This record gives sequence, structure tokens and C-alpha cells, in this order.
Amino acid sequence: MINKTLKSLRKLPQWLLELVSWGKSFKNNPIIGNYWLNRCGLHVVRVVLAQLLFRFRLLLLAPLVPAGDRRAFLRDGFVLKENFLPPEQFERLARELQVYEGEVREFVEGTTLTQRTFMTHDVRADLPEMQALAEEPRLERLMRYCSSKNRPPLFYVENLCNHANVTPRPDPQRDMHADTFHPCVKGWLYIDAVDDRNGPYIYVPGSHRLGWRRLKWEYRQSLEACKRGADRAPGRYWDGSFRISGAELVEMGFEPRKFCVPANTLVIGNVYGFHRRGEALEESHRMTVWMQARDNPFNPLFTLWPRRTGRVFEWVWGRVLQNLDRKKLASGEQRSFRGRFSRGKTV
Ligand SMILES: [Fe+2]
Repeated sequence: MINKTLKSLRKLPQWLLELVSWGKSFKNNPIIGNYWLNRCGLHVVRVVLAQLLFRFRLLLLAPLVPAGDRRAFLRDGFVLKENFLPPEQFERLARELQVYEGEVREFVEGTTLTQRTFMTHDVRADLPEMQALAEEPRLERLMRYCSSKNRPPLFYVENLCNHANVTPRPDPQRDMHADTFHPCVKGWLYIDAVDDRNGPYIYVPGSHRLGWRRLKWEYRQSLEACKRGADRAPGRYWDGSFRISGAELVEMGFEPRKFCVPANTLVIGNVYGFHRRGEALEESHRMTVWMQARDNPFNPLFTLWPRRTGRVFEWVWGRVLQNLDRKKLASGEQRSFRGRFSRGKTV
């Protein structure tokens, strides 16, 4: 009993820090996951505050992007641009990534083999087309604005191998969900064309907006997520990525949209909006340049030195990834290898 109390006291600073930053786990953080605090509105206060600060930062960063893009992002929760790069530049980039040889992380989601490479400045030094994309001014400004943090994102290349010859595991990507409790963005430049064969991204336009119905839903979910043991609903409630059922979406008046898009399409989406990965009908591939720009939602400020801050975030995230790698490699959840992305028919 005394040991348990001492352990809790030692962890208290970390839990409090998580509370005022991006911490979202109802399982690992007993303050975030406290039923009575959430009954009194802890979760909804975090949700509302994060939204207000997000909109405040967006207002200040408005000059970065054209009014049309801002309107689309605020109205729908995403910006979609077909033919984003000039065709010759896109062809060069696609070729470069398809023959890329280097460090690849690999793990299984459902029957999908997901391969990812963290495209740091160092990795990009040998990939001129990837580096040119990372420095593309329209992309940089869009990501700086949409993230509301005025810094470039972290870049990855992701290659999904659908219906791979693997032992199936649970697939958290197929259920309709919001990534977390606050607005944050991810971006994809599609290297492969996407349709039902290789599993399109599905997003619910407008579901990123915080209306009264969403707030009531958040409140109910936060109480559900606090349940323990056998009372806890199955799935990922406990980690703060709340799932939503088809019936609840209809009740809220939403209609999901499937992104069947040609290669060279850019999508930047607010993943507080509901989304999921669509089913792939065939053994197939889907390669994207994948971008992520998560940050502390409660910091009202943004950086005035975008590129320098971007490098710091990249360095810090690189260290965090190394730690995660060690754990996932040890548990067998992940494999790392040096080589190419799987692009043949049989994977
Ligand atoms: Fe997600």
C-alpha cells in the first residue's frame, strides 16, 4: 500500500504535465482517467480550451495561406489538392521513393503490412526529390497554418501492403475514430492512385467542428473511458482515441467521404475529425509521403523560427522513436530492416 502511494507520488509530476499537454490516455494517467473529475467536466474543459486556442493561433497565422484553403480547412476539416506537384517533379519523386533503400520499420495491422521510414534531414540528404518536397513553399505554408504551430511537419514515407502474407493482428485503423481530444493535422501526398482496391482514406467532413452534439458525445465518451475492468467497453476507449459507431454518425448528421484520388494528390486533414482507413479489396500497395505535426494544444503560442523548431522536433522525436523501437522490437510487435519497400504483387 505504502509502495503504491510512493509510486503514485513519484509519477504525479508526469501526470500533471500530461494533463496540460497532449496526454490523452485514460488508462495510463489516473488524473485524465478519473471518473469523478470527468463527471465534473475535466475532459470537456480540455476539449473546449484546446479548440479555442487552436482557432486563436489559426487566426494569427491566416496570412500564410490563400482564403480558399483556409475556408476549406475550417469548413470541411481538410484541404485536398489534386496534381499537387508538376507532373515531371512528381514522377521523379515517385521513382526515387520506389527504389529507396534504407532503414524500414515494419509492423502488422489487421492483414496489412505497414512499412514506414522516418524521413529526417539526414535521410533526405541522399534523396533530392524528397528534400525538394519538404522545402516546397506551398506545402510548407499549408502545414504551418493547418497545424496552427507555424512549423514544418515530421516526414515519413509509408508503404501499405494490403492482404499481405502475415498472421493477422487487431487493426486500429479500420474503426471510425478521432485521433485525440484536440485538433491536430496529418498530411498525405499519394504516390499511388487510391481506390477500393488498395483502401482509400475515409473522412467525415465537418466532424472536426466542436458543436453542442459533439461536446455531449465527448462527455459521454469520457465517462465510458474511465470504466475499469469488465465494465470497460472493448476497443481503444482507454487510450483517448475515441471510436464512433455508424449510428452515432447518422445521429450527428454526418456522412463519411471516401478519398478515391489519383496519384499526386495532397490531403491535409484535421484528425480530430472522424476518420478511418477503408477496406482494400485486393492484394495491393498504397505508398504515401505521410506528414505529422502534433504539438501541445494548450500552448497558446507558436514558434517564430519554423525551420529551426522543425529540426528540434525532428531530433526529439527521433530519440523517442528509438525508445519505442526497442520496446516494439523486443515484444515482436515490430521488425526493422535495411532494404527497399515491398512493391511487387506478392509481399
Ligand atoms: Fe487516426
